[in-house]
Amino acid sequence: MLQIESLKVFHGPIEAVHGIDINVPEGKCVTLLGTNGAGKTSTLSSITGTARATGTIRLDGEDISRLSIEERCKLGIALSPEGRRIFANLTVYDNLIMGGATRRDKKQLTADIAAWFVQFPVLGERSSQRAGTLSGGEQQMLAIARALVSNPRILLLDEPSLGLAPQITAKIFEIIRDLKTLGMTILLVEQNASAAIEVSDYVYVLNTGTISSHGDASKFGDGTKLVDELTGVHR
Ligand SMILES: Nc1ncnc2c1ncn2[C@@H]1O[C@H](COP(=O)(O)OP(=O)(O)OP(=O)(O)O)[C@@H](O)[C@H]1O
Ligand SMILES: [Mg+2]
Repeated sequence: MLQIESLKVFHGPIEAVHGIDINVPEGKCVTLLGTNGAGKTSTLSSITGTARATGTIRLDGEDISRLSIEERCKLGIALSPEGRRIFANLTVYDNLIMGGATRRDKKQLTADIAAWFVQFPVLGERSSQRAGTLSGGEQQMLAIARALVSNPRILLLDEPSLGLAPQITAKIFEIIRDLKTLGMTILLVEQNASAAIEVSDYVYVLNTGTISSHGDASKFGDGTKLVDELTGVHR
């Protein structure tokens, strides 16, 4: 569904990603693993259109790399950003309405929000609460749900487990697994290698802007060897 070829991503004069290829097939969860500064967020920003990039990015065969952020959103690209970036002063419900801002079918949008409240009951219970008063885990769920109400073809998740307690992290990965069961196509960015490998079909390892290894998730076992390799630990 998403095919990326020879992608380079730039921040001003700095080249953060040095020509990578990534393939995300329909209905699969593909993970991009890497340590701090590897270029994971830069890669996602090039897909949503917020970072300058060269190379081709195809969605369902169509090259979207010259399209505006809004056009890409309308074609079905949605991001749950690093650090969540929810609108703290808006209610949970209004955050979700914002997620559907590019949709024309407003009536269907409210029906879809009601449906996502079934998937995320805690958000339904708190729909009129100010989003800034939610716990970290609830805010993460809101960021994911906000991306989902745009009715995406592909969901991009940037470090959804960052800063969350192990129990809450487990809950977030359970949600990712549920979304996969619903048929959602997911590109996941994570530093939590073992949990990410477990929910993924395919894994790419990004190392200072280049892909150092990739393969079926099963190839990476529980991720221990990979973490050692990335952090330079020799057992
Ligand atoms: N807006 C920016 N301006 C200048 N340099 C940037 C900018 N954003 C990222 N970079 C640089 O690009 C490189 C890749 O950063 P990026 O945020 O993509 O990494 P990351 O893998 O998402 O890291 P993290 O795990 O810390 O989120 C880093 O060297 C970073 O300093
Ligand atoms: Mg990042």
